[in-house]
Amino acid sequence: MKRDLLSLQDLTGDEIIDLLELTEQLKQDNYQLNNRLKGKTIALVFQKPSNRTRVSFEVGVFQLGGNCLYLGPTEINLGVRESTADVSKTLSRYLDGIVARTHAHQDVIDLAQHSSVPIINGLSDHYHPCQALTDIFSIKEKFGKTEGLSLAYIGDGNNVCHSLLLGCAKVGIHMRIATPPKYEPQKDIVQLAQTYAKETNTEIVITQSPQDAVTKADIIYSDVWVSMGQEKESDKRLNDFDGYQINEELAELAAKDFIFMHCLPAHRGMEVTAEIIDGEHSIVFDQAENRLHTQKAILISLLGEKP
Ligand code: CP
Ligand code: NVA
Repeated sequence: MKRDLLSLQDLTGDEIIDLLELTEQLKQDNYQLNNRLKGKTIALVFQKPSNRTRVSFEVGVFQLGGNCLYLGPTEINLGVRESTADVSKTLSRYLDGIVARTHAHQDVIDLAQHSSVPIINGLSDHYHPCQALTDIFSIKEKFGKTEGLSLAYIGDGNNVCHSLLLGCAKVGIHMRIATPPKYEPQKDIVQLAQTYAKETNTEIVITQSPQDAVTKADIIYSDVWVSMGQEKESDKRLNDFDGYQINEELAELAAKDFIFMHCLPAHRGMEVTAEIIDGEHSIVFDQAENRLHTQKAILISLLGEKP
């Protein structure tokens, strides 16, 4: 039966650990080409712009011996030019897998429901599982472990935050989230993460205080204040997020050897200062690189030939 990756709900903690191990092997391979996707074609059905997700998937598929097609919003236009179900049923007849970047998360669910090939969520308004898996890999790479670390997420409690919540709870990373009022992560997703956190003995704290979240944190994480599709709310959001910037004063409260993470794209002077993102604690370009290795592991696990 085909398997999808729509959210980190779709993977057990053990499966995440296996993926991290495969990612490590692929990274040590030093970009060597292999044939695990030989003869397979993957499409990227993207309704929003992308740098990292698009390029890392295209290069990853190439390195695994497969072929990749980019289908941007003007080609597919999900649900407008034709229904998501029809798109999915049609593409399933040609392809071996689809990476989808959508606005509504329901579009990713609909694609998966009507497709006979694996669907990988490359970012929806609710989740960014490929990013969170990469982030967990990057954390393990820096600290040699995940259990017992604490991650402070400062900013909008949306897609990246939701996926980190589920992922961190599954691998034992405590998470403290600071958002302005009305930007908290969705309650149902927090509750789901709490059920995983119980099993791994981890703590999830939601606060409005960036200072409380960052104090003694091993990892400080931030994301944009205005996500793709929210551009009309820019002025209001910049106002609402005032005080949630990661800067040197805030980072002083973190553990001495903290790392700074950001999924990118970033806006210096808004959610983070240049001193922090370009400073010695920042690992943002290692994160960006690790998208490639992690996604190759995801592709092999969901649709690759066994070695
Ligand atoms: N982090 C991330 O998904 O980047 P892109 O939007 O550039 O793909
Ligand atoms: N929250 C951001 C993440 C980009 C990778 C957005 O949705 O635009």
